[in-house]
Amino acid sequence: MINVILSGCNGKMGGVVSETIKHSDGINIVCGVDINPTSKSDYPVFSLPEEFKGEADVIIDFSHPSTLTGLLDYSLRRKMPIVVATTGLAADQISQIKTASKSVPVFFSANMSLGVNLLVDLVMRAAKFLEDSFDIEIIEKHHNQKIDAPSGTALAIADAITEAVSKPCEYVYDRHSVRKKRKRSEIGIHAIRGGTIVGEHSVIFAGMDEIIEIKHQAASKEIFAVGAVRAARFIIGKPPALYDMRDIVNSERS
Ligand SMILES: NC(=O)c1ccc[n+]([C@@H]2O[C@H](COP(=O)([O-])OP(=O)(O)OC[C@H]3O[C@@H](n4cnc5c(N)ncnc54)[C@H](O)[C@@H]3O)[C@@H](O)[C@H]2O)c1
Repeated sequence: MINVILSGCNGKMGGVVSETIKHSDGINIVCGVDINPTSKSDYPVFSLPEEFKGEADVIIDFSHPSTLTGLLDYSLRRKMPIVVATTGLAADQISQIKTASKSVPVFFSANMSLGVNLLVDLVMRAAKFLEDSFDIEIIEKHHNQKIDAPSGTALAIADAITEAVSKPCEYVYDRHSVRKKRKRSEIGIHAIRGGTIVGEHSVIFAGMDEIIEIKHQAASKEIFAVGAVRAARFIIGKPPALYDMRDIVNSERS
C-alpha cells in the first residue's frame, strides 16, 4: 500500500485527488496538509507536514507556491519522494526543485494530464518533421475565471516545439497591433476565455493546401488527479532525479 501525504487537501484539486485515491487500489491518503486544517475527509489534516508523526511514502502537492520551501525541506529530511503539481512557481523555486531532486526523486509538471503530455510528444515529432514548410499556431481555451494568459501549458508546448526544431522560434501573442505577414519562424499563441471550459489546447500546422491539427480537450479536473497519482506510483523507488510526464510517456513507449 502506498501512503500519501496530500498537500492542499482542502482545495479544489485536493478534493478531486482525495476522491481519485479513494477509488484507486493500493494507494491511500494518510494525512492532509492545508493552511486551513479542517478535516473534510476520513484522514487527519495538519497545517504543517511536521505535525504528522506517522509513516508515508510520497507527498502529492496541489496547493500554493508559498508551501514549496517547507515541503521540499520535509521531503529532504524524510528522504520522501514528492510530486509537485502546484503551478505559478518563481524561477528561484524551480531552482530549489532542481537542487532537491539531486537528493530525492521529485516529479514536477505544470500539467499532470497524460493526454496533454502525449500531445506535447506528438507535437514535437510533427514540428521536427514539418518545420521547413508549415506555419505553427497554438490556440488554448479556458474558463472565464482564469487570470493568466496564455496558459502555462500553451507556453510549455511552444517551448517543446522550440526544443524540437533546428532554428530559433519567435512567440507572437498579438497580431492586431502590427500589420505585417507572419514569418515561418513564428509560433502564434492565442488565448480564448469563456464559460466553464476546463482546458483545451490545439496545435495547428498549416502548410500548402493541407492542415494538421493536434488537439487535447480536458473534460474534468480528474485527469490531473489521475496523472498525479500515476506520477506518485512512478517515482516511488526511483533514484533521486527530476522527473516529469515525459518520463512516463517515454516509459510507456519503450
Ligand atoms: N499540475 C497540474 O496539472 C495542475 C492542475 C490543476 C491545478 N494545478 C495547480 O494546483 C494548485 C491548486 O489548485 P486548486 O485549484 O486546488 O487551488 P485551490 O485554491 O482550490 O486550493 C489550494 C489549497 O491550498 C491551500 N493552501 C494555500 N496556501 C497554503 C499554504 N501556505 N500551506 C498549506 N496549504 C495552503 C488552500 O487552503 C487550499 O485548500 C494551483 O497552483 C493550480 O494551478 C496544477
